[in-house]
Amino acid sequence: MSVYANLFSPIRIGTMTAKNRLLMSAMSINFGVDIDGRVTDQLIQYFVARARGGVGMMLVGGGAVHPTGLELPDLPTLWDDGCIASLKKMVAAVKPFDTRFGVQLMHGGRQSYHDHTVAPSAIPAPAVVKGSPRELTIPEIKEMISSFGDAARRCRDAGFDFIEIHAAHGYLINQFLSPNANHRTDEYGGSFENRSRFCLEVFRDIQQKVGPEYPVGVRINGRDYIDEGFDIEEAIRLALLLETGGAAYLHVSAGVYGSTELTIPSMYTEQGCFIHLAKAIKDKVSIPIIAVGRIKTPDLAERVIREGKADAVALGRSLLADPEFPNKAGTGDLDRIRPCIGCCLGCIHAVLALEPGGCVVNPKVGREYLLNNRDRTLNPQKIVVVGGGPAGMAAARAAVEAGHRTILCEESGKLGGLMRIAATPPGRGEVGDIVNHLINELERLKIKVMLNTALNERLLGDEDPDVVVLATGSQPEVPIIKGLFKTAMHLCTVTDVLDGRSPTGGRIIILGGGQAGMVMADYLAEQGKTVALLNRRPHFAEEMSSNDRFYLRERLKRDNVTLYKKTTIAQVLDDGVRFSSNGETVVLENYDTIIIAETMAPVRDAKNLLKNSRARVMIIGDAKQPRNLMLGLSEAEEIIQTL
Ligand SMILES: Cc1cc2nc3c(=O)[nH]c(=O)nc-3n(C[C@H](O)[C@H](O)[C@H](O)COP(=O)(O)O)c2cc1C
Ligand code: SF4
Repeated sequence: MSVYANLFSPIRIGTMTAKNRLLMSAMSINFGVDIDGRVTDQLIQYFVARARGGVGMMLVGGGAVHPTGLELPDLPTLWDDGCIASLKKMVAAVKPFDTRFGVQLMHGGRQSYHDHTVAPSAIPAPAVVKGSPRELTIPEIKEMISSFGDAARRCRDAGFDFIEIHAAHGYLINQFLSPNANHRTDEYGGSFENRSRFCLEVFRDIQQKVGPEYPVGVRINGRDYIDEGFDIEEAIRLALLLETGGAAYLHVSAGVYGSTELTIPSMYTEQGCFIHLAKAIKDKVSIPIIAVGRIKTPDLAERVIREGKADAVALGRSLLADPEFPNKAGTGDLDRIRPCIGCCLGCIHAVLALEPGGCVVNPKVGREYLLNNRDRTLNPQKIVVVGGGPAGMAAARAAVEAGHRTILCEESGKLGGLMRIAATPPGRGEVGDIVNHLINELERLKIKVMLNTALNERLLGDEDPDVVVLATGSQPEVPIIKGLFKTAMHLCTVTDVLDGRSPTGGRIIILGGGQAGMVMADYLAEQGKTVALLNRRPHFAEEMSSNDRFYLRERLKRDNVTLYKKTTIAQVLDDGVRFSSNGETVVLENYDTIIIAETMAPVRDAKNLLKNSRARVMIIGDAKQPRNLMLGLSEAEEIIQTL
């Protein structure tokens, strides 16, 4: 029996029984459909991988019930019977894995990506989506209600086990519920009874069309976390009405576009951040309650259920990062779970930019259909990986798993490269989880790791590799600025400071407003130091996901931090800097330290040693071009596949 006895016990939801209490929550992943929104093999294999990974229940995200409600361009469309055939194929592919498979029905309302949005009232969404929606007429409201029921019937006919109504996250149903979005004065606006009418009529229409025995759950917000938003008191009232109406379960989430507490929170947010909302509802109803929100570890998931805070737990991003999470949790193989690091970059940031969803730590997301049948290599080679950062470690792991003889050498005494020190600033610790995971993988696969070993002639001679993978990373580039090398201030780089190699004084100037400079500012400000940060660009930390950056910007709203943007430096002084910001001249004085946190330059010195070697040289990650982790990891896996 699993150590997680509660998590891995079956659960009855309406007429359906799931083998365990883990649900893969709906995620609008924005890939895997054809031009008409019909499901393709790409989406099918994405779900097959997760079902194979052992999850008890699983939801297709973003099932669009009406053309006006398509949230993102590449989501399954359910508004005509033409969708049924490809959905049937998907259900059949998942069937062997004993995972209860459902569809989440949604209408994006004013949060849909296109420019002909509709909503209860003509009020623009508070964030992300631009433009104002058109107010729905009463006949149109009836049409929308009916479109939910029709879509549900199609999903049932395709063979899905259950349906979830998306009444959360600021989409159409939530817009009706929330006074913030609903200013109607007819029977669909005003009082709680009127605002909840749309949701309840949707539920009834679905029930009529799929029958009372078919499990229909509802995802609701416990709180919108926005002014005049839907709140826990009304969420409880709605929960009671839905229970009476016959809902099979309630799934309690939170937030809308533009909330202070975001629906898809980054690593800065406490794990399990919405559990208290699930518990508040569970205390009042007796149908199963599902909790969600950075429930990242099997320990926390088990505790939620054991302590009676919810009956099941939904995992979103953890199942992007590792589809095998449930199987590994079940067997207690916790070190093998590849952790989601809460960066929000490959997943929600990508889809909101209308790109296909992915995952920074799992380059296979969306590529399952290409990779599934890949075998071990027929042509095993001797590979030396140079550099023990994430890209190097991922390359070594992929190479050994493919059957190549592989060693990894790392010049310093530690594995992890820049990612290890990137985990140092406040709130960034989860970045280190992926480093630890990769280190565990090297140990598990018994890969020979040589620390304090740079690539050298002797090593090359001894190993005589067929392939050398250079994953030697990058380092901060020191810009040429008048006065910089003559200043009396202590001059150092962001990596010197985070690695503990360079102490700083109490009054610090940071040059660079990207992620490195901003987290550096947070790190120093937290120690009570005074920080002025100069950003040449008009925006700060542009390379971060907006969800992650949101929290960092909030943290930096403090008296001891001043951020300047659109800066041009005239001169570095003995104790400060003269520069212009937004066209105005500023002179900073009485500073003691200046930290460089601007561009990064690739490190490829080892390449020179390979000029006379017979080895094929492959350069990956930051050594190729400094970028984000996702590209480094995917390059690592890709180049191994080319061998
Ligand atoms: C790429 C992406 C798309 C999402 N799309 C949906 C969606 O269509 N419907 C929904 O209810 N939630 C959606 N979510 C929210 C997740 O279902 C989940 O509530 C959220 O990610 C928090 O859970 P987690 O911390 O386990 O990821 C999405 C999340 C991500 C990352
Ligand atoms: S991209 Fe980042 S937040 Fe999204 S699933 Fe992957 S690790 Fe998690």
